Amino acid sequence: MLREADRALSVRLMRVNHSGEVAAQALYQGQALTSHDAAVSAAMRHAAAEESDHLAWCEQRLRELNGRTSVLNPLWYAGSFAIGALAGAFGRGTGLGFVAETERQVESHLRSHIERLGTADKRSRAILEQMTHDEMQHGARAASLGGKELPVPVSVAMRLTSRLMTRGSYWL
Ligand SMILES: [Fe+2]
Ligand SMILES: [Fe+2]
Repeated sequence: MLREADRALSVRLMRVNHSGEVAAQALYQGQALTSHDAAVSAAMRHAAAEESDHLAWCEQRLRELNGRTSVLNPLWYAGSFAIGALAGAFGRGTGLGFVAETERQVESHLRSHIERLGTADKRSRAILEQMTHDEMQHGARAASLGGKELPVPVSVAMRLTSRLMTRGSYWL
């Protein structure tokens, strides 16, 4: 049984992670739509399927914790879908580079959440550890398929966007 303070923190963190998975789905679906490269589209669909597992795990954990998902999710979905579609339209190198960078940022974000969770909430922790493992593989696959390093301003913009999402879904 979790103490109330631990439960409340877990709800907030898992709500942010749930939103992240909503955004990941949108990013992959958007990119699968505009990418004309069969290998890229297949990789996107494979990753999107795993992201939908992540989404389900976070949602179920939120339910167990008596928490709710973020009311801002439609906003994150729409924005990420547009960004994904745009990245796909730029061609293979940029599209895959964008995925690799996204997964890298998600991975480091998940690690920080695992640290903040502490040791009380073992179930949430196990979920985040499995997700970290999967995200690392998504990133590595995108890089090995030919993802290019992104220009610095782009990766900075991505970091700012994810900070907005992290803050928003933490409270709302
Ligand atoms: Fe994920
Ligand atoms: Fe991923």
